[in-house]
Amino acid sequence: MQTTSFQQALSLARAGAKPDVAWLVPLLACADADAPELYRTADTVRAAAIGDGVYLRGLIEFSNICRKDCAYCGLRRDNRGAERYRLTPDQIVECTREAESLGYGTVVLQSGEDPWFTAERMADIIRRIKAETKVAITLSIGERPEADYRLWREAGADRYLLRIETTDPAIFAAIHPDDDLEERKQCLYTLKKLGYQLGSGVMAGLPGQTPEILSRDVIWLHELGAEMIGVGPFIPHPATPLKAAKGGTVEQTLRLVAVLRLVFPHAHIPATTAMGSLDPKGREKALMAGANIVMPNVTPTTVRPQYEIYPGKICTGDDARHCRGCIGHRIEAIGRTVASGPGHVVRKK
Ligand code: 5AD
Ligand code: SF4
Ligand code: FES
Repeated sequence: MQTTSFQQALSLARAGAKPDVAWLVPLLACADADAPELYRTADTVRAAAIGDGVYLRGLIEFSNICRKDCAYCGLRRDNRGAERYRLTPDQIVECTREAESLGYGTVVLQSGEDPWFTAERMADIIRRIKAETKVAITLSIGERPEADYRLWREAGADRYLLRIETTDPAIFAAIHPDDDLEERKQCLYTLKKLGYQLGSGVMAGLPGQTPEILSRDVIWLHELGAEMIGVGPFIPHPATPLKAAKGGTVEQTLRLVAVLRLVFPHAHIPATTAMGSLDPKGREKALMAGANIVMPNVTPTTVRPQYEIYPGKICTGDDARHCRGCIGHRIEAIGRTVASGPGHVVRKK
């Protein structure tokens, strides 16, 4: 079999070649000595396609109650040690106002799969936010029937994040005791059809994951037409069945971020909190390897530590205003600027 070298792979990527395992793997599995060139190339592609602005999304983690039992997640329903909370609709709207006052053009409403938030209750919250503020709304609340997704879209939701987590059928089944890969894919196709700006992504470093598998994830995200792609290292949580797993690394995730930027020059790619949690400079490193989004937390500090999807999560003791200042300084310190406005996805003709 013919193998593609790192340099050949990078040339193909630069030329905008159709994503293919043959050249994605040499990039995703590149030697440490080659990684800086991969990151620099992605950074250049990002600057040329979408410029130096970094969009901030105010993240509201409004409920950590979840009906699912994902093997990797600290919020899984079988984790009896997790102290559960649910913000009221009034609190959620209030948080949104605070996010807007801090200058955020988007709020991300994220939660476990909490059935208390029926389609109607969620729609009410969306309508109230749209009536009382100017922010764009991103939902990140898991799998729901098409009717719910449609209702929320009609209520004014702009975007939806639903990570596929992995497209490998065996890994997906092993870590999702109550989930089905084809159904999750179907949710994403439905969201797309309904006109949401569509976000998905995967975790890096899941047990059994290989560069081939990650490259097939990238190809699948490309076929899906994802417009926002969030990836972070898997960080084992001590109260889950995967507590003894190795987990992902910052370097592995940076390679993935860079490859995603090469494949999706115009996409919104966040420097994720998980990156910042594994490495104090993790988010900056991601921003310098292709990322263009940060999602500072605006969840009330009273409940923030309880949204513990993985251990060592940053910002759990810092209020929203502190995080806004902190992240602004970090962005400017690497020569970038904080972008204003809603930061809708860029759809190239
Ligand atoms: N480590 C890293 N990321 C995790 N997520 C859930 N559990 C973990 C973990 N242990 C990610 C999933 C989910 C997102 C909200 O958080 O990818 O989609
Ligand atoms: Fe629930 Fe999401 Fe955690 Fe799975 S990853 S247990 S659906 S909060
Ligand atoms: Fe929260 Fe730095 S972004 S403390």
